[in-house]
Amino acid sequence: MTEEVELEARLEAQDTFEPPESFVEQANITDEGIYEEFEEPEAWERAAELLTWDSSWDEVLNDDNEPFYEWFVGGELNASTNCVDRHLDERGDEVAIEWVGELGETRTYTYETLHREVNEFAAALREQGVEADDVVTLYLPMIPELPIAMLACARIGAPHAVVFGGFSAEALAERMNAANSSLLVTCDGYYRRGDPLDHLSKARKGLEDVDGDVTTVVVDRLGDDAASEIEDELVYGDLVEAHAGASVEPVARDAEDMLFLMYTSGTTGTPKGVKHTTGGYLSYAAWTAHAVLDIKPEDTYWCSADIGWITGHSYIVYGPLALGTTTLMYEGTPDYPEKDRLWQIVDEYDVTQLYTAPTAIRAFMKWGTEYPEGHDLSSLRLLGTVGEPINPRAWKWYYTHIGNEECPVVDTWWQTETGGMMITTLPALNTMKPGSAGPPLPGISADVVDARGDPVEAGRAGYLVVNQPWPGMLRTLYKNDERFIDEYWDEYSIPERDQWVYSPEDGAKLDDDGYITVLGRVDDVLNVSGHRLGTMEIESAIVGVEGVAEAAVVGGKHEMKGEAVYAYVITEEGQEETEEFRAEIVEAVDETIGPIARPEAVVFTPELPKTRSGKIMRRLLENIANDEEVGNTSTLRNPEIVEEIQQKVREE
Ligand code: WTA
Repeated sequence: MTEEVELEARLEAQDTFEPPESFVEQANITDEGIYEEFEEPEAWERAAELLTWDSSWDEVLNDDNEPFYEWFVGGELNASTNCVDRHLDERGDEVAIEWVGELGETRTYTYETLHREVNEFAAALREQGVEADDVVTLYLPMIPELPIAMLACARIGAPHAVVFGGFSAEALAERMNAANSSLLVTCDGYYRRGDPLDHLSKARKGLEDVDGDVTTVVVDRLGDDAASEIEDELVYGDLVEAHAGASVEPVARDAEDMLFLMYTSGTTGTPKGVKHTTGGYLSYAAWTAHAVLDIKPEDTYWCSADIGWITGHSYIVYGPLALGTTTLMYEGTPDYPEKDRLWQIVDEYDVTQLYTAPTAIRAFMKWGTEYPEGHDLSSLRLLGTVGEPINPRAWKWYYTHIGNEECPVVDTWWQTETGGMMITTLPALNTMKPGSAGPPLPGISADVVDARGDPVEAGRAGYLVVNQPWPGMLRTLYKNDERFIDEYWDEYSIPERDQWVYSPEDGAKLDDDGYITVLGRVDDVLNVSGHRLGTMEIESAIVGVEGVAEAAVVGGKHEMKGEAVYAYVITEEGQEETEEFRAEIVEAVDETIGPIARPEAVVFTPELPKTRSGKIMRRLLENIANDEEVGNTSTLRNPEIVEEIQQKVREE
């Protein structure tokens, strides 16, 4: 015990950590000159050169039509060739995907077997009439068929749009309609905490609201455990079998051709279709996986995110496979069957890097050190985190109890829109400061500015901005160039400076060493367990319930999730404020968005605090949710409501 207390005290006093010697000795990037080298856009060739191109680019960056930048202009390549075919000669028998199912079953794909199935499914997609540039929707959980389908789409030049498996039927329909997608790949179900979940009924329900004819392919994941039989749909396994041994010539794609679409939450109701390209995105994913995650072909690397989010796209599928490594995929939850599941997997597979999220780390801390202590974690070489700010206590816990003080921790700030990591330490070069993500990566120019766009002093909070384009950046919002400019470029693009500035909508602070601490979103977007959810999306789901007159959704602090959804609801005349009605509201959010958006609390209130001009004072509602001082309410039209709401929240 005393030993533990001593360790705690020592760590609490320590604010900086140096890269461990054993790590530095073998790291991919050790050259300090790299920051200077990347001051020229031409340096990005180093990222592109990690890939195999069918024809080389003529120009690294075309900035004639800002902010519609183009990268590696004129180059041609195929993402599936880069992630699969080119590794066959040297690494055909090595493991590409190591899959661990929740019930303990495993599946191993070597580069050879991955190549085979990607070709077979690509042939099947072709046979179904899928052509280059047709958007294919993938609504699948964490099973190997998801990355296989992604790569099969990439092979024939069809962009994929993966919809997170936890999203609702309505969310699926909305995304398919927006992308004008007429082929869906889904599955009968999957396991959660040992129980089979019905996924197919959800997909079918969504399809009822999709315009036009849709061909549906279903992966039989559950066999006899499935609640709904595959009937009118095509069966994935049959298609692959029918094309056994097929070989599909990869389509050479222009560097700027769309590789995929990924929908993400914004401030308005409809999700944004973020467009990523083949050349720039893939180069950037591979480069950051090489430089930050230190991935080498002989590693067994594990990112515990879901492929339904950008983290899984870049750092389970594209980055790691482009580098020819073994990427581990786990289907289930970290506490099934026991709270040591992750550590048991690290131990069993000799995992070398683990990339996870602060929300998971907070759960591990709460569960206690006995779970990791029961396993040999000495194979780990590097630890990573992403998704939300990590507090220094959680960082240090991760560093000591998982990394044994021998693994650098990279706290990586980035977004769906950035395609890959932007702000983080290079693990062998930079001092680590728990709580601060680090300096911008080489070639990334970021700053913290005030509302006018002027840089703020070190130590003061402001808005994070990115001043220069980078290869992994989104190119536009699907079929909506106008919204792309409005959402990301207008605010801080000051004409007299003649410079376009990307605005990620995050608050941040800079320190004297140029390290950036990201504080969180400055727009109406919540971060629940590292997942982005728009308050407007949730509000419109709630207002859709009969009996609800008005709703305001804000984030309240939550020990595990980071933020939790608080819904303040005004009912219509005659609607009783019962527990049943509360349940109905929660249910509606589940159905419209998915369980991740489920409100932690639904507070009925006769009015919402509003300014004299009628705007809802969200900040005030946030203060109330967090049981904080509400401050000055004199600008309110209805200040008396504040106390009433406070009272109700306390009673909850
Ligand atoms: C937040 C996930 C602090 C941030 C890759 C950003 C972070 C949003 C970090 C993007 C981090 C992500 N420190 N905040 N290391 N990483 N964020 O699009 O608010 O799902 O804008 O991409 O997550 O979420 P998204």
